[in-house]
Amino acid sequence: MRALIVDPEAPGRLRLGEAPDPRPEPGQVLVEVRHTSLNAAELWFAQQAALGEVIGFDAAGVVVDAAADGTGPAVGSRVVGFGEGGGFGALRAMDVADVAVVPDGVDLGEAAALPVAAGTALRALDQAGALLGRRVLVTGASGGVGGFAVQLAGLGGAHVIAVAGSEDGRRWVSELGADAVVGGVDEVTAGAVDVVIDTVGGDQLAAAYGLLASGGSLQSIGWASGREAVLPVGSTLGSTAPKAIVSVYNGGGLTDRQAQLGRLLALVAAGKLRVPVGWRGPWDKIADAVEALSSRRLRGKAVLDVN
Ligand SMILES: NC(=O)c1ccc[n+]([C@@H]2O[C@H](COP(=O)([O-])OP(=O)(O)OC[C@H]3O[C@@H](n4cnc5c(N)ncnc54)[C@H](OP(=O)(O)O)[C@@H]3O)[C@@H](O)[C@H]2O)c1
Repeated sequence: MRALIVDPEAPGRLRLGEAPDPRPEPGQVLVEVRHTSLNAAELWFAQQAALGEVIGFDAAGVVVDAAADGTGPAVGSRVVGFGEGGGFGALRAMDVADVAVVPDGVDLGEAAALPVAAGTALRALDQAGALLGRRVLVTGASGGVGGFAVQLAGLGGAHVIAVAGSEDGRRWVSELGADAVVGGVDEVTAGAVDVVIDTVGGDQLAAAYGLLASGGSLQSIGWASGREAVLPVGSTLGSTAPKAIVSVYNGGGLTDRQAQLGRLLALVAAGKLRVPVGWRGPWDKIADAVEALSSRRLRGKAVLDVN
C-alpha cells in the first residue's frame, strides 16, 4: 500500500512511500483511509521510529473488510478511529472498539481531526467535572487540542479564557468563541480560575497553577513548550480544598474510545462543535504540514487528504 513512511532523510522524517498491507485480526475492520491528521506527538514519534515504519494515530475512511468475528461496522461504512500507529497508511486495520461510524453530513476529513485532539480535550474536561458557570483557562488555545478545549468548555457552560501566543492565534481563538483571549497567563486579571486545561507546560503551567481557585484542578495534557515548570515556594499550600494537577491520557488501551468519538461526532453533526482546520492538503505535502506545526504557525488542526 501507499503510506507516509518514516525516512530519516526526509524533511520531518516523513515521506510518501510504500509499506506492507496490514493484516486485520478477527476483531478488526480493514479501512481504506481517506484522511488522516497530524498531531504534535507524531513529530516526536517520527524521530524515534525506524526507516519504513508507518506511524499515525488518527484516520477516517471507508470499511473495505468487516471484522472476521462479526462485530463492528459493515463494508461500506464511513468510519473514524484511533490507533497506536498505522494511521498514515492507505489501508489500516483497526480494532472495532476504537472506531465510530461517521454520521451523514459530517466531512470525513474533519472527522479525521477528532480522535487525538478533540478526544483529549473532552477527556480533560470530563476529568475536571461540572463546568457550568465555572472559569476555565485554556493554554495553547490556538493549537489542535486547545481549539477543541475552548469550544467544548464553552458548550459545558464555562466562562472560557484562552491563551494564545500570537496576534493571529488570538484572533483564531476568538472566532472559536472564547469569552476572553490573552497573550499570556500573566495577563489573566479578573480573579481565580476553577479549571486549567494545559497543553504547554513550563512557565505557563506554573503560572496557571498559581491562578487556581481552592478546589480547582489543572488538567495537564502536554508540554508543547518543552520547558520544565518551577512552582514558587509555598504555592501548593494554604488552599482550603485540594488544588490538583491531574494527568490526562488519551492514548491506546482505553475502553471508551467509541463512546468518546460518538459524543464528538454528534456535536459536529449538530453544528455545535467546529473542527478548526488551519492546514489541509494532499498527503504528499506532508513536509508543509510538518513545517507549519513545528514552526508554531499552524492554527488548529492539520488534515491530510489521501489521494
Ligand atoms: N496527554 C495526551 O493524551 C495528549 C494528547 C494529545 C496531545 N498531547 C500533547 O499536548 C500538547 C499539545 O498538542 P497539540 O496537538 O494541541 O499541539 P499544537 O497544535 O502544536 O498546539 C500547541 C500550542 O502550544 C502553544 N505553545 C506555547 N509554547 C510553545 C512552544 N514553545 N512550542 C510549541 N508550541 C507552543 C502554541 O500556541 P501559541 O503559539 O499560540 O502559543 C501551540 O499552538 C503536545 O505536547 C502533545 O504531545 C497529549
